Amino acid sequence: MKFTLRQLKVFAAVAKCSSYTRAAEELYLSQPAVSIQVKQLEEHVGMALFEQIGKKINLTPAGKEVQHYCHAIFQQINEMEDVLEAMQGLSSGRLDIAVASTINYFAPRLLAAFNRRYPNIDLTLEVTNRETLKKRLEANEKDIFLMGLLPEKLDLHAVPFMENPLVVIAPPDHPLTQERNIPLQRLAEETFLTREAGSGTRLSTERFFHEKNITLRTGMEMSRNAAIKQAVRGGMGLAVVSIHTIELEVETGRLLILDVEDFPILRTWHIVHLRGKRLSPAAQAFYDFVLGENMQQLIGSD
Ligand code: PGA
Repeated sequence: MKFTLRQLKVFAAVAKCSSYTRAAEELYLSQPAVSIQVKQLEEHVGMALFEQIGKKINLTPAGKEVQHYCHAIFQQINEMEDVLEAMQGLSSGRLDIAVASTINYFAPRLLAAFNRRYPNIDLTLEVTNRETLKKRLEANEKDIFLMGLLPEKLDLHAVPFMENPLVVIAPPDHPLTQERNIPLQRLAEETFLTREAGSGTRLSTERFFHEKNITLRTGMEMSRNAAIKQAVRGGMGLAVVSIHTIELEVETGRLLILDVEDFPILRTWHIVHLRGKRLSPAAQAFYDFVLGENMQQLIGSD
């Protein structure tokens, strides 16, 4: 074999990013260094691996083959590292977790508690919405995931670990705060602020109202729960959010939960990985920790 693992690593990054520049950023290399590695790999292979059409670079058929094998090679290398790590016990290790945006409201408390128990495990956390989590799961890019609504068509191992009720929020001076058991139909007269497409909160809310045959009037779309809360406080509309996101505002009376019939929408958070994935010892320790602890108590006690 004439080519090196390093060349494959650089190639895989360019293929993933479809860009030399972005791959260079990801690998902390200069762009020429990335181009040279790819060029050397192409020379060894004897075929072009990328073709440039305008500004876009695409994989050639040979490039697609190399990408396929790179994926398998790097997965094997990760597994080998995990097995070696296991032989050393949990005195060290790393854990790469991805969680749904909404979970970020309690993930730091959860990870801090885990870190107290396993101080030698290095943690990396990515916070993103459900759609991106689905892509990461498909590509088997993380050790473990925490998410709400599970993606369909993926063979997953998913276990619920905590409830995640969705509620309707309003500013304290909204007339509906005075009413009890508000009919769902009444909500059709209000404007609702929504999360971005790809959000699990948004999808669950849309499904709920669709099943009830109610069309909500939607206002501004925002990709952050924090922005939605501010906009609701500012009187721009109502919103459906996870109860975990409004702990502080409800405590201080800055936002109120409306008493709406058939609410809350009952959902659960899941701990997830691809079925058949071999968990590293660090990931197994995290999995056991999440399912073994009383989460409500753990995240409630700051
Ligand atoms: P999200 O939460 O709305 O932050 O994507 C995920 C979910 O509730 O499924």
